[in-house]
Amino acid sequence: MRILVLLGGASAEREVSLASGTRVADALRQKGHDVTTADPGADPLAILPDARAAEVVWMALHGGAGEDGTIQALFDLAGVRYTGSGHLASALAMDKDLSKQLFRAAGVPTAEWRMVRTGDGTDWTAPAFTEEMIAALGLPLVVKPSKQGSTVGLTVVKAAAQLAPAVTEAFHHDDEVMLEAFVPGRELTVGVLADAPMPVGEIIPKHELYDYECKYTPGMAEEIFPAAIPDDVRDAAQRQAMAAYRALKLAGCARIDFRLHPTDGLFCLEANTLPGMTGTSLVPQAAAAMGMDFPTLCERIALAVAR
Ligand SMILES: Nc1ncnc2c1ncn2[C@@H]1O[C@H](COP(=O)(O)OP(=O)(O)O)[C@@H](O)[C@H]1O
Ligand SMILES: [Mg+2]
Repeated sequence: MRILVLLGGASAEREVSLASGTRVADALRQKGHDVTTADPGADPLAILPDARAAEVVWMALHGGAGEDGTIQALFDLAGVRYTGSGHLASALAMDKDLSKQLFRAAGVPTAEWRMVRTGDGTDWTAPAFTEEMIAALGLPLVVKPSKQGSTVGLTVVKAAAQLAPAVTEAFHHDDEVMLEAFVPGRELTVGVLADAPMPVGEIIPKHELYDYECKYTPGMAEEIFPAAIPDDVRDAAQRQAMAAYRALKLAGCARIDFRLHPTDGLFCLEANTLPGMTGTSLVPQAAAAMGMDFPTLCERIALAVAR
């Protein structure tokens, strides 16, 4: 196949995408495909001629225009075949608020949350706001930009006085900020490949959160595939992952992340439509746990959209 791997882009996750895309291109070449790479940088329109010349565009972008559905919409208009979810599903998964509304509607448990939007008249520095949020969500609670990735702009608020500064910080990254009940316990992740769940993984970060450093620095998180969890928890995670995948109308390879509460079961955090493919990434580890090497994983993802 003539495959164009898109990597880089202009989002906060550019470096991660370069790492993913380089590995993917090498892996596809190992499988004998005719592979070129292109970096849309800040001008995705410039790569359109190359994209049209390829049989499949392999999306190794993370965050921003590569993951939020806008490049997907451009490709749909231009008749370009690409890996992963379409423009609507990509946009839904990027928006944590809409994702959680759809998870709830589909019976996928997700932690209680509230939203604040620029211009909605909320004074988040007022004591009454802090009181109302703590009454609704308890402490600790998590403040995060609604449409960001890689744990950027996220704060775990443990005391009332930390809430207003955390909201201000999150607003530096997005015009919509989510406040979410903190879910104590363990972190699980489920990849979806070819419309079926992959082995469940557990992430044990060295920090309190699975933050940017833990995600991308080898040794800063332990990833266990398959996770050492009871069979019924594994089955529930895989079932809920598929329900979340369908709720957002995802396609191709995706990854759904969960918290496992010590007594209250699973809570879905979010869906990732273009999961990382770096040396420390989770979906490649899930594939390895099912006996699938990295080049085969990359090829499967490409074949799913080939004409
Ligand atoms: N409600 C929550 N309770 C506990 N931990 C959370 C919660 N929300 C986020 N986290 C922690 O922060 C990480 C990043 O949050 P996530 O919602 O997945 O955003 P991102 O899109 O930045 O990955 C999670 O992997 C988890 O470790
Ligand atoms: Mg996440």
